[in-house]
Amino acid sequence: MVTVVANQKGGVGKTTTAANIGALVARRGGRVLVVDTDPQFALTRQLGVDARSLGVNLVDVLAGRASATDAIVRGVHGVDVIPAAGELAGVEMSLVGELGRERFLHDALEPLIEEYDEVVIDTPPNLGLLTVNALVCADTVIAPVSAEDEGAVHGILELRVTIAKLAKRLGGEAPLLIAVVTRWSPTRVSSRTVEDQLTAAGLPPVARIRLRSALVAEAAAARVPVATLAPDSCIALAYDDVVELLAGRAAR
Ligand SMILES: Nc1ncnc2c1ncn2[C@@H]1O[C@H](COP(=O)(O)OP(=O)(O)OP(=O)(O)O)[C@@H](O)[C@H]1O
Ligand SMILES: [Mg+2]
Repeated sequence: MVTVVANQKGGVGKTTTAANIGALVARRGGRVLVVDTDPQFALTRQLGVDARSLGVNLVDVLAGRASATDAIVRGVHGVDVIPAAGELAGVEMSLVGELGRERFLHDALEPLIEEYDEVVIDTPPNLGLLTVNALVCADTVIAPVSAEDEGAVHGILELRVTIAKLAKRLGGEAPLLIAVVTRWSPTRVSSRTVEDQLTAAGLPPVARIRLRSALVAEAAAARVPVATLAPDSCIALAYDDVVELLAGRAAR
């Protein structure tokens, strides 16, 4: 199964979500591949991976110079990683004029998908061609929505339209879109507002990830997912609910 973490809004917790979902599937004994498609390569950095360690990374895969298998850094906190690098921005530009430009990532990952219980893809904060390439691979799309952003629901509706359009244009079933509220706090009015808006839009959040800036920063500094650093924390437990939901989908 392929799970894509996407929201065109920046800084909402996509990378944090991708890292923790990956770590928690691995903790349950699953074989996990995490793919970073963001030219800012925050997930690659967050996991402490050096994108140059193998001499190839996602840039070479999308440019057709290497297979996805050759770009896998194996056994990073229990997960395999295909790292990103800044040159992805240039690769995205060069894909624009190519035939079948939405399917490059799909075609590169396809031979690998059977080897993993879960492939988790992090995306950049826009609906550009890198994000579209990721969405085309998805069985499930997780949209992290910041509980601090009362306008957030509009972005998710736009994402939902994009997903539906892609499925219609390219054929195949649209992936399931689920929302997760991040930076959630029981004492903040905006947290309730964002949840209510998502529910009204038909996307009731499947998990509330609490605002825990010190813990998230500590994990970032240690270059590990929160779920690895603090497996009993409220953040790890909430992300594990999402993993439970993904496991249920996989078992269908
Ligand atoms: N639950 C949380 N509590 C507190 N801080 C958080 C939480 N989740 C994420 N953060 C922090 O919020 C910031 C944005 O998180 P993250 O990088 O995961 O978002 P993103 O959507 O991937 O950003 P971008 O759009 O730039 O890729 C980071 O500084 C991260 O450490
Ligand atoms: Mg990110």
